[in-house]
Amino acid sequence: MLAPKNKDSMSNVMAVALSVCFVCSIMVASAAVLLKPQRIANKNFDRISNILMAAGIQNVSPTEIVSEFDKFEVKVADLAEGRIISDLEALDLGIDTSAYDQRKASKDPSLSKSLKEGEDIASISRRARYSVIYVLREEETRAISKIILPVHGYGLWSTLYGFLSLQGDMNTVSGITFYEHGETAGLGGEVDNPDWKKSWEGKKIYSDGNVALRVIKGKASSDSPDYDYQIDGLSGATLTSRGVENMVAYWLGKDGFGPVLSRLGE
Ligand SMILES: Cc1cc2nc3c(=O)[nH]c(=O)nc-3n(C[C@H](O)[C@H](O)[C@H](O)COP(=O)(O)O)c2cc1C
Repeated sequence: MLAPKNKDSMSNVMAVALSVCFVCSIMVASAAVLLKPQRIANKNFDRISNILMAAGIQNVSPTEIVSEFDKFEVKVADLAEGRIISDLEALDLGIDTSAYDQRKASKDPSLSKSLKEGEDIASISRRARYSVIYVLREEETRAISKIILPVHGYGLWSTLYGFLSLQGDMNTVSGITFYEHGETAGLGGEVDNPDWKKSWEGKKIYSDGNVALRVIKGKASSDSPDYDYQIDGLSGATLTSRGVENMVAYWLGKDGFGPVLSRLGE
């Protein structure tokens, strides 16, 4: 008679463990593949929600978000040449605005430039040549009413990614929003505080052609002659505040969207 098989033998335990690992890895891999389109759709939905938020278009139901976003023209800015390129040029360059990944482009030497120390005020190391921007026009006159620009810059712990929206004068802030950062909740994380973001509305960017907007330490006083250019600093988070100020200075400066905006404002 054969001896009963030992279920607890090392080979049995290993076989069961390996089978469980195999089945689980198939399940995880299948979920990752099957859910990829949903993940991309969610990411896109999140992006357009943030663009609308920066443009001050809020309280839009999820079903209306896409139709609201369709009112925007999606354009490509060539930061090296300081101009908006035509849709045909963008096509020739292989830029699909709905899929263009500026973060990825900024790591590609053929699509970006390395920033020298004095230039890199937002501490981003490299800047992509092309950037996708969003333009909203008045229905009747077709004049630009809002322009939404992607911006990013280093805070204290992380790079903050967001959108800054300007009015058609290319000088007045109409909104700001951050969709990704790793600053401390309650300190630098207050960049997400709706009241703080609201305080940006109506603030001015340029004075004598230079970026004059500052995130000051403490509270902006309406008695100050610079009040229109001042944003309240985040309490206990001067380093994040300075990072946000530097981010605006860089992206609205001559190496960022400055030349594009001054052409549009002409
Ligand atoms: C755990 C911890 C997390 C912090 N997170 C932030 C932050 O996200 N942003 C920031 O500017 N300062 C943060 N700080 C505070 C900074 O170290 C620094 O003290 C502060 O920016 C100075 O701002 P204040 O002059 O307004 O106090 C943090 C400090 C600690 C101990």
